[in-house]
This record gives sequence, structure tokens and C-alpha cells, in this order.
Amino acid sequence: MRLLLILLLLLHLRHSLSSPHRLLSTPPHPMSAYRALLSLKASITDDPDSALSSWTANTSHCTWAGVTCDPHRHLVYLANLTLADNQLSGPIPPEISALSGLRLLNLSNNVFNRTFPPELSKLTSLHVLDLYNNNLTGDLPVSVAQMTNLRHLHLGGNFFSGRIPPEYGRFPFLEYLAVSGNELAGKIPPEIGNLTRLKELYLGYYNSYEGGIPAEIGNLTQLVRFDAANCGLSGEIPPELGRLQNVDTLFLQVNALSGSLTPELGDLKSLKSMDLSNNMFSGEIPGTFAKLNNLTLLNLFRNKLHGAIPDFIGDLPELQVLQLWENNFHWVYSSRFGQKWKASNPRLILKQIDRGSSS
Ligand SMILES: *[C@@H]1O[C@H](CO)[C@@H](O)[C@H](O)[C@H]1NC(C)=O
Ligand SMILES: *[C@@H]1O[C@H](CO)[C@@H](O)[C@H](O)[C@H]1NC(C)=O
Ligand SMILES: *[C@@H]1O[C@H](CO)[C@@H](O)[C@H](O)[C@H]1NC(C)=O
Ligand SMILES: *[C@@H]1O[C@H](CO)[C@@H](O)[C@H](O)[C@H]1NC(C)=O
Ligand SMILES: *[C@@H]1O[C@H](CO)[C@@H](O)[C@H](O)[C@H]1NC(C)=O
Ligand SMILES: *[C@@H]1O[C@H](CO)[C@@H](O)[C@H](O)[C@H]1NC(C)=O
Ligand SMILES: *[C@@H]1O[C@H](CO)[C@@H](O)[C@H](O)[C@H]1NC(C)=O
Ligand SMILES: *[C@@H]1O[C@H](CO)[C@@H](O)[C@H](O)[C@H]1NC(C)=O
Repeated sequence: MRLLLILLLLLHLRHSLSSPHRLLSTPPHPMSAYRALLSLKASITDDPDSALSSWTANTSHCTWAGVTCDPHRHLVYLANLTLADNQLSGPIPPEISALSGLRLLNLSNNVFNRTFPPELSKLTSLHVLDLYNNNLTGDLPVSVAQMTNLRHLHLGGNFFSGRIPPEYGRFPFLEYLAVSGNELAGKIPPEIGNLTRLKELYLGYYNSYEGGIPAEIGNLTQLVRFDAANCGLSGEIPPELGRLQNVDTLFLQVNALSGSLTPELGDLKSLKSMDLSNNMFSGEIPGTFAKLNNLTLLNLFRNKLHGAIPDFIGDLPELQVLQLWENNFHWVYSSRFGQKWKASNPRLILKQIDRGSSS
């Protein structure tokens, strides 16, 4: 029995030390990483801060700035390459694709331009690809979907256009997806709802999609942050979003969303911040919002909501910011909420709830 246990442990260890990729192919020779990095350096168009000055032929590549080798392997493999915040420009050097075995590539906050080099999709061991805040153009790359080990994919803050490829629903392990701050159009593909391990999803800002929020987003039950603000969304909030039991931040402000606020939003028991301001929502505040015990921020301003402000709003225990202005709320001073407001609870920041109406 004990022997079996040890055997199982050993098997487990062996399994976790060798990725499936490495079992199938010969491991990359460390020398090739050294050569690939030198040719990468040679191909960088412009390095105004001399970020790569430590990359000299007479030293080991594991000592170069931005390079982290994995010391747990018998031979020293390149694991991380971080060239963030360096003002590097020109195209992303396709030479990076020779760094097989790379786990993390962070090129964020540079000015790399042109399109995403399709060769990069050969880096199938990558867990983290961060290209945030560069000058990349062209269609949002479909080839990225071949990097099936990705956990973290940030393509935000570029000039990517086209639509989100439905293939982006195929990453089996993805936990973080950001395509925010680009020039994307088209419909948000329902396939995104297949990313069942996703914890953070950023789609908004500068993008201008067609249509609305796919109901399939409600299948992302691990989701903690969902930000689809300011990106041209229309239609109603699908009731399926009520299944996002772990979501603590829901940002859908500055869109053209309409219809009534779906009562299922009250099922979001982890919700802390909900911003639905600057849309075209109508109807009343649903009674189910009384269940939002963890809510600290509720922004509903600039919509077409009406009715009385329910008493329970004043009783939400954690609420700190409440903005309801520019709606058609019926303001009842005699209500419990009205009394509370008159007593000016300092935790409720109320900006001009409604111009003048009272009863
Ligand atoms: C390595 O080469 C660079 C020039 O490429 C030189 O400045 C540096 O002194 C050399 N370092 C060592 C340790 O030899
Ligand atoms: C990348 O390198 C940093 C140290 O610079 C280390 O803390 C981190 O675990 C590495 N990440 C991966 C995925 O290898
Ligand atoms: C890309 O960056 C290079 C180097 O700074 C610059 O010369 C070139 O004009 C840029 N190309 C585009 C299309 O912006
Ligand atoms: C990439 O580098 C930037 C700047 O150092 C850092 O803020 C960011 O968290 C890094 N990205 C990842 C995914 O680690
Ligand atoms: C990056 O984009 C900005 C904004 O369009 C532009 O001003 C800058 O010249 C671009 N830089 C490069 C290197 O392409
Ligand atoms: C992913 O989602 C789409 C649409 O929601 C569905 O038709 C498809 O079968 C799903 N694919 C996989 C691999 O689960
Ligand atoms: C995902 O959501 C859609 C629409 O809400 C539903 O029809 C489908 O069965 C769901 N798929 C899974 C795997 O839960
Ligand atoms: C939300 O509030 C409930 C009590 O109403 C509490 O049990 C739960 O831990 C809170 N969840 C979060 C994520 O803060």
C-alpha cells in the first residue's frame, strides 16, 4: 500500500516536471536560446534606452536583463522574457519564436508596431503573453489560439482591428483575457462562453462592437471581473449573467444597453461594484437588488429609470457610492430612504438624485 502511494507520488512528480509538449519532442537546447536572443537583439529596430546593453556575446544569456532561466531543470532553459517599459519599437522580432519552451513573454509598454508575427504562435508552452500598450495593428491575431497553454493573454491597448475570433473560445486553461482599448468591431463571439476557467474578462474602451452581450457569458461561473464598458453594446442584459456567482466587478457603463434591469442581477452575491450608468435602461430598480449585501458602488446615473427609490437601497450594509442622477426617479422624502438621506448618512454619496421632484 505504502509502496503504491510512493509510486503514485513519483508518477505525479514526473508528470508535473515534464509538460506534455516536452514528452513528445526533444527539449530545446539552451544554446539555441542564446543564439535566438542575440539575433532578436540584432533585429530590434530602435532601443533608445539601451535596454539590451547587457546582452553581450561573452556572457550567459541567463544573466541578461529581462531574461529569467529556469534553474529547476537539469539544463538551464529560458523561461521568462520580460522586455516591458523600454520604448522598444519596430516590429516584434519573429526570432522570439525560436525560444521554444518559453513560459512567459512580456513585451508590454513599448512601441512595437506592425502586425502580430504569426511565427510567435509556435511558442506553445507560453502561459503568459502580455503585449499590452504597444502600437500593434492589423486584425486581432487568430494564430494566438494555437498557444493552447495560455493562462493569461493581454492584447489590450493596441490598434488591433477586426473582430474577436471565435477561436478565442478554445483556450482550455485561460484565466485572463484582455482585448480592451483596441479598434475592434463585429459581434462578441458566444464562444467566449466556453472559457470556463476565465476569472477576468476585459472587452471595453475604444472598441465598438455590434449587438449585445452574449448570453453564453453567463457560463463563465469562475468570472470575478467583467469589464465591457464604453464599447457600443446594445440590447438587454441577458438574465444568464445572474449565474456569475463569483463576479465582484461588473462594468457596463457608457453603452447603448436598454430594457429593464433584469432581476437576476440581484443573484450576484459576490458583487461589490456595479456600474450601469450612461445607458438607456428603463423601468424600476428591481426588488432583488435588496440581496446585494456586498455592494459598495452602484452607479445608475444617466438612464431612463423611474419609480420610487426603494427603501432597501439605504439599508445595503456596505454601500459607499450611489449615483442615481439624470433618471426619472420619483423622490419620496417621507420614505425611510428619504429620511436616511435627509439625515445625510456620510457613507452615501448622493449627487443630485433627481432634479427637484418630491412628494
Ligand atoms: C564583454 O564584451 C563587451 C563588449 O561586447 C565588453 O564591453 C565587456 O567588457 C566584456 N565583458 C567581459 C566580462 O569580458
Ligand atoms: C518569471 O520570472 C520571475 C522572476 O523574475 C519569477 O518570479 C516567475 O515565477 C517567473 N514566471 C514564470 C512563469 O516562469
Ligand atoms: C514603426 O516603428 C519604426 C521605428 O520607430 C518607425 O520607423 C516606423 O515608421 C513605424 N511604423 C509604423 C507603421 O508606425
Ligand atoms: C508585464 O510587465 C509589466 C511592467 O513591468 C507589469 O506591470 C505586468 O504586470 C507584467 N505582466 C504580467 C502578466 O506579469
Ligand atoms: C505609436 O502610435 C502613436 C499614436 O498613434 C504615434 O504617435 C507614434 O508615432 C507611434 N509610434 C511608433 C513607433 O509607431
Ligand atoms: C463553444 O461555443 C459555441 C457557441 O456558444 C458552441 O457552438 C461550441 O460547440 C462550443 N465549442 C466547444 C469546443 O465547446
Ligand atoms: C452556455 O450558455 C448557453 C446560453 O446561455 C446555453 O444554451 C448552453 O447550454 C451553455 N453551455 C454550457 C456548457 O453550459
Ligand atoms: C458577501 O456577503 C455575504 C453576507 O451577506 C458573505 O457571507 C460573503 O462572504 C460575501 N462575499 C464576498 C465575496 O465578500
